[in-house]
Amino acid sequence: MNINEIRNQFPVLDQQVYGKPLVYLDNAATTQKPICVIDRERDYYLHENCNIHRGVHYLSQKATEAYEHARQTVADFVHAKEAREIIFTRGTTESLNLLATSFEHFCIGEGDKVLITAMEHHSNLVPWQQMVQRHHGQLLVVPMDDKGVLDLNRYEDLLKEGPKVVSIAHISNVLGTINPVKQMVAMAHQYGIPVVVDGAQSIAHHSIDVQDLDCDFFVFSGHKMYAPMGIGGLYGKAEWLEKLPPYQFGGEMVDVVNFEKTTFNVLPYKFEAGTPNVGAALGLETAVRFLQSFDRKEVEQYEASLLQSAIEQLSEIDGIRFIGEAAHRSGLVSFIIDGIHPYDLGTIIDKMGVAVRTGHHCAEPVMTRFVIPGTVRASFALYNTIKEVEIFANAVKKAALMLR
Ligand code: ALA
Repeated sequence: MNINEIRNQFPVLDQQVYGKPLVYLDNAATTQKPICVIDRERDYYLHENCNIHRGVHYLSQKATEAYEHARQTVADFVHAKEAREIIFTRGTTESLNLLATSFEHFCIGEGDKVLITAMEHHSNLVPWQQMVQRHHGQLLVVPMDDKGVLDLNRYEDLLKEGPKVVSIAHISNVLGTINPVKQMVAMAHQYGIPVVVDGAQSIAHHSIDVQDLDCDFFVFSGHKMYAPMGIGGLYGKAEWLEKLPPYQFGGEMVDVVNFEKTTFNVLPYKFEAGTPNVGAALGLETAVRFLQSFDRKEVEQYEASLLQSAIEQLSEIDGIRFIGEAAHRSGLVSFIIDGIHPYDLGTIIDKMGVAVRTGHHCAEPVMTRFVIPGTVRASFALYNTIKEVEIFANAVKKAALMLR
C-alpha cells in the first residue's frame, strides 16, 4: 500500500483547520470519498442522467444497465448468490426500517419478541423496539461484559424464548468489538430464527461473505465505505425477500394496479419504490472497485496497526479508561479520561486539527451500561497514517493536561 498515492485520491484530506493540518479520524461516522467516486457520480449527471426502468429511449436504457451493473458488482462484493438479493436503500438505517416494517407485516403478532444485543446503534434498536411495542411485545437484549464482549450463554437462553428475528451488529460503532456473527447465526438457525447482521461498521474494513456467514440479511451504508451519502444496501436471501411484503409503495415496485387490487413486481424491484438514487449507486459501485483494487487482508493489517499504535500511545495517559477492550476488535478506539468530559476533550483536539467523534455515538444504552456520559472515539480508514495517530495521541495528551 502506498499511502501517499492513496491520500492523493482524497483531496479533502489535504487541508488545514484552525491553521493545523487536518487529521481526520471520524471515519466510523463517514469516510471521505476518493476522486474516482466523486467523478463517477458527476459523470452520471453530466452525461447519463435519466430515470431508469421506465424509458425506451437510449439514455434511459443506458442508465438502467449501469444501475443494474452496480447491483451485480455489490452482489459480487458481498458474495451474494444472485444480484436480485441486493436491494438498494438509503443506507443501514433505511435497510433496518425496511426489515422491521416488513417483518411486522409478515409475522409479528401479540407479545412477539425480537432479539438484539446490548451494543446496538439506535438504528438497530429503535425500529425493532417500536415495532414490537405496537404488539405489546418486547426486545430481548444479549448482555455484554466489561470488555464489551457478548455473553453467548445468555444469547442461547434468549434464543429459547422464541424471538421472531435476531438482529446484531457485526462490529460495534462504540466499542469496536467484532461479534462472532457466524457462530451466532448458526446458533439462531438451530432454533429456526432468521438473523440480520448490521454491517455498517464492518464492510469497509473486512471482506464480507454473506454465504459463508449464512446470515439471512446483511445491511450496510455506502458512505462508510468511501461511497456517496444516500446509498446503501440490504442483502437478503432470495427465499426471505420473496416471502416478505414490500416496505414502501409507489411506482416501479408494482406489477398490475387497479382500484381494487395491486400485485407487486419481482425481486429486487418489489423493495425499491420510487426513483432510486442512480448516481449514488454508480458511486457505490466505484467505491467497491476502489476497495477491490487493494489486497483487503493487507488493508486489514494496516488498519489494525493504526489501532494498535493508538491504543499503545493513549495507554500512557493517566486516568484513561478504554471503553471496549475485546480481544477481537477493529476500526476504532473509544475512551474517557478521569475527570474530563469527552466533549471538552474533543473540542480542544479539534482546535489542534484532529477530528474525532464525541458523545454517545447513537448508542445510549452502551453509555448506560458503562455508566459514562459519552466517549471520545477515533476511527480509522485506509488513508490514515501512523504519523496522524501520533499527532492525535499527542493532542489528547496535551488536552488532558490543559483540562486537569
Ligand atoms: N453511525 C455513525 C457513527 O457511529 C454515524 O458515528
